[in-house]
Amino acid sequence: MAKTAGTIGRTVDAVDNWVNERAGVKAFWKQHLSEYWAPKNFNLWYFFGSLSLLVLVNQLLTGIFLTMHYKPDAEYAFASIEFIMRDVEWGWLIRYMHSTGASLFFVVVYLHMFRALMYGSYKKPRELVWVLGVAIFLVLMAESFMGYVLPWGQMSYWGAQVIISLFGAVPIVGTELVEWIRGDFFVADATLNRFFALHVVALPMVLLLLVVLHLAALHEVGSNNPEGVDIKAKKDAQGRPLDAVPFHPYYTVKDIFGAGVFLLIAAFIIFFWPEGGGYFLKPDNFVMADPLVTPDHIPPVWYFTAFYAILQAVPDKLMGVILMGAAVLILFLVPWLDRSPVRSLRYRGWPSKIALGLFVIAFVRLSMLGLAQDASILELRFWTLVYFAFFILMPIWTTFENTKPVPERIPS
Ligand code: HEM
Repeated sequence: MAKTAGTIGRTVDAVDNWVNERAGVKAFWKQHLSEYWAPKNFNLWYFFGSLSLLVLVNQLLTGIFLTMHYKPDAEYAFASIEFIMRDVEWGWLIRYMHSTGASLFFVVVYLHMFRALMYGSYKKPRELVWVLGVAIFLVLMAESFMGYVLPWGQMSYWGAQVIISLFGAVPIVGTELVEWIRGDFFVADATLNRFFALHVVALPMVLLLLVVLHLAALHEVGSNNPEGVDIKAKKDAQGRPLDAVPFHPYYTVKDIFGAGVFLLIAAFIIFFWPEGGGYFLKPDNFVMADPLVTPDHIPPVWYFTAFYAILQAVPDKLMGVILMGAAVLILFLVPWLDRSPVRSLRYRGWPSKIALGLFVIAFVRLSMLGLAQDASILELRFWTLVYFAFFILMPIWTTFENTKPVPERIPS
């Protein structure tokens, strides 16, 4: 790095050297940014990783400020949220940034996962990047479920009641398990307290750790790209991949642009449509929790409804719970279910394209059915079948379909 002039410059250089001899900041910067070689053809789909990071930071920061005024007590929790919304300076903004942020988190994470499915980013050598991603997704689900309980509105209370009681389907220990999770004989103050502890301390730490590992695993093997070409196969004399650019400044600048556009859209939603027409925050949740009044319909938030629909596709409670769990856990196996010799959909045959298309339709349709009060059981079963067929039949069509030859270099 160029030497800075003058006394101040010399002092800065001295501090810089002192820190680097002890912490290796420059080496880290080089390895992960200025000399992290990223494929030159990242497209729009590659914005959603950095956007997930941005939303994660938003959730952590707004969460800290909410915690300053929120009271994790069944008697005061609801009123403390109203206090934040009406009396705390900018409290309404912080609260909406956090509650709407949760929905935006799932929007960007779902698009991020879809990108990985489209370009085969989970295939060798990126299996661990994907597995850690699915672990992040699981923790994110737990984190948002527990956060939703904290305002102690009717939906918080009854949603917790429905979801926790699912554990009652576990044979032999079901009843004890449910009591253990609730910490009481019904959803009560003890439940709220432990959910608060998990939501603000334990799960964010796990989430952060998993995100660090996710990125460490990615940087170990390098990023995939829309063509699925292995850029490390063709290098120049200095050992730099020919089809790559340094992540910084090329993609830092590009990602900042993406973040700008995203923040504009997010600001518009937060200022003008914070409850998302009842999809982000349900009207029932503006009524304080009442253990004596059950709402007529208790659907989860939109990002869970596909899995909730799968639960409802089978009348047997235990089978439903197993199927719902399997719908998430099966994602872990994708790198080994996909037997295709190529990564990107661009070089795959029509069976892969139709399968991914049908999978997306099934997921969207299940999400809609999970929200409806009177979904037809036949339709629920049909789309559940399509959902699982995508995974179960994947080894078959990926083995037998015709693929196109992948070029050695990224086409310009
Ligand atoms: C908090 C949530 C998450 C954060 C902050 C995050 C962050 C990132 C970032 C910054 C990248 C590199 C940039 C990019 O390729 O877009 C990345 C790549 C990747 N992520 Fe995530 N991620 C998250 C969740 C997930 C989930 C849930 C999955 C899948 C189940 C996943 C799978 C992947 C894969 C396979 C890659 C490599 C993509 C490629 O090289 O083409 N991530 N992630």
